[in-house]
This record gives sequence, C-alpha cells and structure tokens, in this order.
Amino acid sequence: MSHRDIGWSSRSFSRRQALACLAGLAATAMPVRSGQAEVASGRTVRSGLQEIFLTASAADHNFWADSGPATGMLAYDGKVPGPVLRVKQGRPLRVTLHNRLEDDTTIHWHGIRLPNAMDGVPGLTQPPVHSGEAFVYEFSPPDAGTFWYHPHANSLQQQGRGLAGVLIVEEDSPPAVDRDIHWVLTDWRLDDERQIVGGFGNPMEAGMAGRIGSLVSINGSFRQQEAFHDGEIVRLRLINACLARIMRLDFSRYNPIVIAIDGQPCDPHVPVDGRVLLGPAMRVDLILSMNGRPGRLYAIRDDFYPALSYDLSGFVCIGSLSRGRAPGDIGQWSLPRNPLPEPDLAAAARIGITIQGGMMGGMGGMMGTASSNAAWAINGSSMTGDGHAGMRPLATLERHRTYHLSISNDTAWWHPMHLHGLSFLVLKKNGESVPHRKWADTVLLAPRDLVEIAFVADNPGDWMFHCHVTDHQKSGLMTVLRIT
Ligand code: C2O
Ligand code: CU
Ligand code: CU
Repeated sequence: MSHRDIGWSSRSFSRRQALACLAGLAATAMPVRSGQAEVASGRTVRSGLQEIFLTASAADHNFWADSGPATGMLAYDGKVPGPVLRVKQGRPLRVTLHNRLEDDTTIHWHGIRLPNAMDGVPGLTQPPVHSGEAFVYEFSPPDAGTFWYHPHANSLQQQGRGLAGVLIVEEDSPPAVDRDIHWVLTDWRLDDERQIVGGFGNPMEAGMAGRIGSLVSINGSFRQQEAFHDGEIVRLRLINACLARIMRLDFSRYNPIVIAIDGQPCDPHVPVDGRVLLGPAMRVDLILSMNGRPGRLYAIRDDFYPALSYDLSGFVCIGSLSRGRAPGDIGQWSLPRNPLPEPDLAAAARIGITIQGGMMGGMGGMMGTASSNAAWAINGSSMTGDGHAGMRPLATLERHRTYHLSISNDTAWWHPMHLHGLSFLVLKKNGESVPHRKWADTVLLAPRDLVEIAFVADNPGDWMFHCHVTDHQKSGLMTVLRIT
C-alpha cells in the first residue's frame, strides 16, 4: 500500500457523527453544510461499513515534481489521480462525494456490478450533483479486482482535467507476490506554461480517434520510476485512464502473466509477444518477474501507434533480492473466481449491434444525421452527451436471461465498447473463439471487427453501453440496455 492509499478505516467518522450526518444525507443530492465533511480521526468506524469521503474541486498539480509551474486541474481530494480506494469484497461501502467544482458532477464506479441507482449516470440513474452539493453512494462491491472511478457528467472536461482514481477491491487471499502496485496511465495536452490545452470536443477529433494527448503520466507523474529488486515478483495493475489513447505496452522482459482483465480473473496466460493491449477504461493485472542490473532504468515501450512509439519511464533496479523467486507454474497465479452468473449460451437471446459513422468510414466522409453534433451511431441512432433523462433503451432485456451480443464495427476507427453494471464473457472475435475465459466490462474493437459477447442479465436497471473514447461517446456512440 502506498502512502496515498485510503483504507476503509483511515478516515472514519465516529458512529454518532456518521449517523448525524446520514440523518441529513439521504441517497439524493442535497446542499453541504459547512463542517459536515470534517472527518474526526482516531475513532472507530461502524463495524463492517467502509466509509470514504471524496471532494471534487479545482487543484494544482505538478507532473514533474520540480520547481516549475503547477498545472491547474480538477481533482478528487486535491490529488491527480484521485486517492486509491482499497476496499473489501462484499462488504458495504459508503462514499460521500462533495462537489466543490463549478460544474455538475457524478461518480461512475467503472466495472462494479452495483445497484442501478448508484451507477452515477446523470439524468439516467441519479440527479446530477450540483456545485456545493453532496451525494452518497452506497453499495457492496461483489467482485474483487482492479476497478476505477470517474465522473459521468461533462466527462470530456472533467476526466480530461484530472478527475479519475483507482478502486481496488481486495481478494480475501491475494496471490503471494513481493509487491502489489498499480499504474494509472493518462495522457495530457499541456501548453508551454504547463496548462491544459482547451478545445475539448472539437468535431474533427470527435469524428476520428478522439483527443489523444502528447504526454503520458504514470500515477500523475512524468518521472515515475518504479523501484524494484532483481528477483522480485510484482503484481502490476494497469489502468488506462486516457480519454482516447490506446496502448500496447511491452513487458516482454519480465515474462508477464495476465491474471485478470477489467478486474475479472481470467485463465492465467502469457500475452502474445509479451505485449499488453489496453484501450481507454481497460485494466489488466499482470504478474511480472523483475530482473535487471542495479542502477539501471528500464523503460516500457508503447508502440500502439507505429509512427509514434515512445518510452514510458518505467522501472529502475535498486538491488537484488538475496532470495529471488522464479514465477513457477503459471497456473498457480489463478485468482479466486468472482461470483459471476454463468451464461447459458444454448438458451441465449441474440442482439445485434452495429457501430456506424466517423470520418473516412466505408461510406466516405462523415455520416449524415439529423443531430448536428452526432458523428457516430449505434444501429442508426445517436445518443449524445454523458447521459440524460428519457434515453430510450435500444433493447429491453428479461432479467436472468442470457444475452448474446454480436457487435460489429462498421467504421474505420477503434472503439473500446463498455457496458455498465455487468461483466460479460468475450466469446469470439471475427468468428474465432477467444481463449482464456476473458470476462470484461470493456471490449476493444479494431476497425471492421466483429466481436461476440455474452452475459446473464441479472442486474436490473437502465445500463449504458457506450464507446469509452469519450469524444465518441459524447458524439453519438452511446445507447442504453434496459433490464427489467
Ligand atoms: Cu467508465 Cu460510462 O463509463
Ligand atoms: Cu462503466
Ligand atoms: Cu469509439
């Protein structure tokens, strides 16, 4: 655990304060009275409840940790990325969000299978949290794994200016590694004064790859060097928190083993060429066998965009373990399964989804739609923005039934397609079975890909299904699936 982690007990209210506060804070937005967010230290938390407070506000952040100017950003608790939330699987969690931004906001708990009212989509699942107000999120995360949180209101700007953080749901018995670390990977566009360049949502970018920044940070730093010992076994949790950038990271030096995808355990396997492909919002947990010579820096190369490959400042070797370990048999790294309902493929109902639009698509040029800011569509209809009241579901799904979705990308662009509230099994890509039992909440489609996924519709509510390239989502690549 790093010093920035917030454990569930480290910022606790006394029982009396918690109850007094809750008396005023129902699970709906309400104004914050001053003092309400003050946290008493050294008191016990109500047994079993994990209580966390997050404040979203403007903040200064220095990516270089030097004496140069800081960058004006938006942050949770003043930190970029936000505090690491480490919580226990299956235990009640309560997070009070205080909005000290000038803008409405919400928090979406990306990948968590939670009650619909806690999903953080403004208009669709909750009222937006206005400036100066608070909202209480309460749920018990059913699955252990690597998740993250970000706003779902004005998300291009809010996420693009710094609002995002990691949510780690701990396994009861985690794998025996020497260290458990995480990298939140985020790209930025900064000007000469180190300030974030505006122009979010420009239509040209929205119809192409989205807003890709030129500088990539690890955990909010451009200089992050992860110290390691030769011979260490490390669990590295990767989180792509970029608005649009896709990454292909070369971990081949460390014999990487993929143990989880989007928080969900998979059959442990060695990724092809030792490369990890990570679209926006996607997570991968790796087991790495660290090796190197003391004093040397080992960069991690990202070569997803061939002409633009670059090195992430990566690992620095600071010594060697007297008793180094070999990773041993790959099967020993398999994580305990999460309680996911098993799809009944034989009885599955089928839904076809076609992703359309974008520049230079098969039709040539931008798709024509009635709505002027729509560049994309799903099955011919474009929902734009971040979520709003009255979104008409694309389909109504029967609770407990298995659904088999065929998603075809009829565009010239990549799309990380994300479903809220559920995890799905990735069955096939372009007709070929996908190995290693890959559960996911976000699946990356290359241009012209056809991907098949399946899930049991066990979580009732209106769930968003959208591209996680935020520019694409905002300009039409979004829809809603309703489970009744
Ligand atoms: Cu992480 Cu609707 O998204
Ligand atoms: Cu989500
Ligand atoms: Cu997209």
